[in-house]
Amino acid sequence: MSRYRYLFSPLRIGPVVVKNRIVFSAHLTNYAEDGLPTEQHAAYYAARAAGGAGLIVTEEHSTHPTDWPYEKLIHGFHPEVVPGYRRITEAVHRHDTPIFAQINHNGGQGSGMYSRLPVWAPSPVADPLFREVPKEIDRGEIAEIVAGYATVATHCKEGGFDGIELQCSHSSIVRGFLSPAMNVRSDDYGGSLENRARLLLQIVAAVREAIGRDIALGVRLCGDELIEGGTTIDDAVEVARMVEEQSLTDYLNTSIGVATASLYMIEASMQVPPGYALFIPSALRKAVDLPVVGVGRFKDPLQAERALVEGHCDLVGVVRGQIADADFAAKARAGMADDIRLCLSCNQECVGRMGLNRWLGCIENPTTGREAFVDGAETPASPRKVVVVGGGPAGLQAASTAAARGHDVVLFESSDQLGGQARVAASVPSRAEFGDIVRNLVHACRRADVDIRLGTAANVDAVMAERPDAVVIATGAEPSRPYWAPADAVTVVDVRDVLEERARPDGHVVVIDELGFHQATSVAELLADRGCSVEVITPGMVVGQDLGVTLDLEHWNVRAAAKGIAQRTDLVPMGWAPGNLTLLHHPTGVNVDLACDWVVLAVPQQPVEWLYYELRGVPNLEVHRVGDCVTPRRAHAAVIEGARVGAAL
Ligand SMILES: Cc1cc2nc3c(=O)[nH]c(=O)nc-3n(C[C@H](O)[C@H](O)[C@H](O)COP(=O)(O)O)c2cc1C
Ligand code: SF4
Repeated sequence: MSRYRYLFSPLRIGPVVVKNRIVFSAHLTNYAEDGLPTEQHAAYYAARAAGGAGLIVTEEHSTHPTDWPYEKLIHGFHPEVVPGYRRITEAVHRHDTPIFAQINHNGGQGSGMYSRLPVWAPSPVADPLFREVPKEIDRGEIAEIVAGYATVATHCKEGGFDGIELQCSHSSIVRGFLSPAMNVRSDDYGGSLENRARLLLQIVAAVREAIGRDIALGVRLCGDELIEGGTTIDDAVEVARMVEEQSLTDYLNTSIGVATASLYMIEASMQVPPGYALFIPSALRKAVDLPVVGVGRFKDPLQAERALVEGHCDLVGVVRGQIADADFAAKARAGMADDIRLCLSCNQECVGRMGLNRWLGCIENPTTGREAFVDGAETPASPRKVVVVGGGPAGLQAASTAAARGHDVVLFESSDQLGGQARVAASVPSRAEFGDIVRNLVHACRRADVDIRLGTAANVDAVMAERPDAVVIATGAEPSRPYWAPADAVTVVDVRDVLEERARPDGHVVVIDELGFHQATSVAELLADRGCSVEVITPGMVVGQDLGVTLDLEHWNVRAAAKGIAQRTDLVPMGWAPGNLTLLHHPTGVNVDLACDWVVLAVPQQPVEWLYYELRGVPNLEVHRVGDCVTPRRAHAAVIEGARVGAAL
C-alpha cells in the first residue's frame, strides 16, 4: 500500500488517463540536431517513462521559421520531424506512459541570429535579454502564426503524441500578446485582456480542429510575469476562465516569471523555497474545473503529495527532480523514497549547460544526457578488492559505482565526516541543499555495502594492508597561497579556513573572488551575517560571474545589497602589508590601496596528489585517481570521473 494516497492515483486528462500525478514537464534539452529530434530524445524520455513518470511533456517544438532563439531547437514546422517523433513516442509508449508535445513560438524572446529573419511579436518592444526590436506582426502574419501551430500539432499527432501543450507561459508569442508590458497594440489584439487573449483562443481553436478530440490539449499559463507592468495572478485566473469557457482544452499547466527578464524564478535555485509557485495552480484551481499542474522545486515525493492533499493542484511537475533521478516516481511508489537521488536545485549542469549551448546533463547523474549511449545498468564484474581513498564526491561516487558492480570496496576518509568540499560548501545556510549530493552519495555507498572507515588517514602501508587489486585516489585539493600573500600573514586566509572554522575574521574583510562561483559570495554572506563589514573584489567584470549561468546572480545581488556587502570589479591583488591590500585596477593600470582587517581568498586550489604518486611506485598495483586530486574543478567532474573509474574496475 503506497504511503502516497493522491500521488499514485490515476487521473483523466481529456481522452488520456495518467496512472499517477507526476509530470515530467517541458524543458529544453539541446538534444536536437539540425532542427530534428534525435535518438537521445527518445532514450531520455523513455528512461523517465520506465522510471514511473505519469506523464511526459517534451521540450518545445517551434511552430514557425521566424522562431529560432537557440541553436538546438526542434523545428516542428518541418514535416521531416515526424519519424523522430515516432521514435520518441514509441519508446515512451513501451512503458505504458503517455507523452505530450509542447509547441511554441517564442515571439520577441529571441533573435534573428540563427534564422536571419526579423523576430515577430505583438509590438516593437525589445526583450531585455535579446535586445532586438521585433517586428509588430500584422493580421496576415497573425493568421500565419495560428496556422503554424495547427500544422505542428498535426505533425505531432502523426508522430504518435497523446497530447499537445501550448506554451503560453514564460517564453512565447502568446505570452507576449497577453502581457501589457509587451503588447501595446491598438487593434483588437491589444488593450483589454479579452483582446490580448484573442491570439491564445484562436490558436486553441485551430489546434483543436487540427488534432480532433482523440488526443489531449493543454495550455501552459504564466501566473505572474514578475516584471514591471506585466501580468499577475488575477490576469492568469481570468485567462484560465476564458480557456475553460471555450471548452476545447483538457488541462492547464502553470509557471512563473518570464524566460529572460525573470528566468531565475522559473527554474529557481536552492535559494527559493520548494513549492514557491504553488499559489498559481491554487488560484486557477479555485476558478476552473480543468485539471491544473503545479510546478516549482518539487524535489521530494512527500512535497508533491502534500501539494495534492492540500488541494493546490491536480498534478505535480517534477522536472529537475526527474532529470537528477529518472526513477523518482518508481522509487517513491515502491516505498524507497530514501533511494531517490534528490535534485540539489544547483542548476549547474541542467539550466547551466542550456545557457552554454551544450546538451542537458545533471551534476550528480552522469547518465543524464547520455541515455542513448549507455544503458545505465550496473554491469556485474568479477569481484575485486578495491580501496578508495577520500570521501568527497569523487571518492564516494567511485566507491558506490564499484561496489554496485559487485566489488569489495573499502573507503578511507581521514576526517570524521564524509562529503569533502561539498559538505563544506553546504555549511553556508543559503547553500545547505548542496549537501544533498553528500546525502545521496553516502546513501548509495551504504546501499552497495561500501566499508566506510572515517578518521582513517591513508598512506601506502595502510592501503597495501588491505591487499587491494585496485586503488582509487580521491584525495581532493587543498588551498594554495598566491605569491603576494606571505605564509606568515595570519589575517590572509582561504575561504575553507573560514568555513571550516580555522579562522574567524572580524572587522572589515575583503573577499577576493578569482573563482567566479559560490566560494566568495557564500563566505561574504556568512561574514556579513556575523557582523563583519564585507567587500568582495574580483579581477573580472562582475563578482560571481558564473552565478549568472546557474540563475543565482540575481538572488546574490539582492542579498548582498540587503546585507551591505560592497562589490568591486577589475581589481587584481598585488601585495599585502598588515592592514593594507594593494590592488591593481587593470583597465587603468593604477594601483589602489585598500585598508582592511582580514583578506579571505577564493582562489584556485592545488591537487593533493602525493599518495597517488607514491602508490604508482608499488609494483603491479592498479592505481587510478579521480576528481580534484587530478586537478581542482567543480563537483560534476568529480562525479563523472568517479563513475567512470568505478565502472571500469
Ligand atoms: C533546463 C530547463 C529548461 C526548461 N525549458 C522549458 C521549456 O522549454 N518550456 C517550458 O514550458 N518550461 C521549461 N522549463 C521549466 C520547467 O518546465 C519547470 O517549470 C521548472 O524547471 C521548474 O520545475 P522544477 O523545479 O521541477 O525543475 C525548463 C526547465 C529547465 C530546468
Ligand atoms: S544539475 Fe543540479 S539542479 Fe540540475 S537536475 Fe542535477 S541536481 Fe538538479
